[in-house]
Amino acid sequence: MASQIPDMAEPVDALTTTQSATGAGSRILAVANQKGGVGKTTTAVNLATALAATHKKVLIIDLDPQGNASTGLGVDRVARQETTYNLLIGDAHIADVITPTMVPGLSVAPSSVDLSGAELELIDAPRREYRLKSVLAEVSNDFDYILIDCPPALGLLTLNAFCAAHSVLVPLQCEFYALEGLSHLVKTVNRVKRAFNSELEIQGVVLTMYDRRNNLSDMVAADVRNHFGDKVYETVIPRNVRVSEAPSYGKPVLLYDWRCAGSQAYIHLASEILKQEGSHGSERKLSV
Ligand SMILES: Nc1ncnc2c1ncn2[C@@H]1O[C@H](COP(=O)(O)OP(=O)(O)OP(=O)(O)O)[C@@H](O)[C@H]1O
Ligand SMILES: [Mg+2]
Repeated sequence: MASQIPDMAEPVDALTTTQSATGAGSRILAVANQKGGVGKTTTAVNLATALAATHKKVLIIDLDPQGNASTGLGVDRVARQETTYNLLIGDAHIADVITPTMVPGLSVAPSSVDLSGAELELIDAPRREYRLKSVLAEVSNDFDYILIDCPPALGLLTLNAFCAAHSVLVPLQCEFYALEGLSHLVKTVNRVKRAFNSELEIQGVVLTMYDRRNNLSDMVAADVRNHFGDKVYETVIPRNVRVSEAPSYGKPVLLYDWRCAGSQAYIHLASEILKQEGSHGSERKLSV
């Protein structure tokens, strides 16, 4: 299959792993892909759950007005009094937004539909790209990992995530147009790296909704690995009905059915990421 990447002439400073010099504090990962429905929220929720299961303290920032991460973690819409919208416009304190979940060690800053208005409301705000970064600095010593579930767009919300994050974790659905979108995302990460956040890197690409009965899944996977080499995790998340059922019960799939193939894949992904983090050098704090 011919490569679907239209232009990789800019092969990405962001793919050159830089050693983060964050020192003590949380490791902040933006889970992003401007394409909708590729598994961002599912990955954020279940990776966070798997990390929490290894006794890491984890916070999910729901930065999507759809609020799927909040719903998937069982946070009732009526219980979302103060949300990430209030954090961005600056009328709430993060301690009042962070909500514990049923998963020990995992908390969430929920979102609400108000967040869709934040981009316009912040249009003239000073340092509007760094709103989330300033907020997260206040809880940096309270969590080992902060995962930001981004909306399916590269607007101001995702820009806030990229300015706050050390790295971007990209879920990629194994389907035909996946790589075109990835090329655009990588360019955006590079631009943000140059203009706003010099330490931003691509943490890795995780293939999602892989269907081994479908040849296209294999071809896309091979093509992505060709281009992105060891930036692509060995773990592949299979298409698995239990994964899609879990959010309607307000549970991560790891709590809904920890034995299913989807849960096991997210456990493997967490362990790959922990290993990757371990090999990045001692200046990164991995555990409190
Ligand atoms: N491995 C999987 N197997 C089966 N269904 C899955 C899997 N991963 C995700 N899904 C389902 O696919 C849909 C899209 O997933 P998800 O909401 O995680 O994507 P997203 O990228 O966050 O979407 P959006 O761009 O709208 O935020 C959901 O219904 C989810 O339950
Ligand atoms: Mg989502």
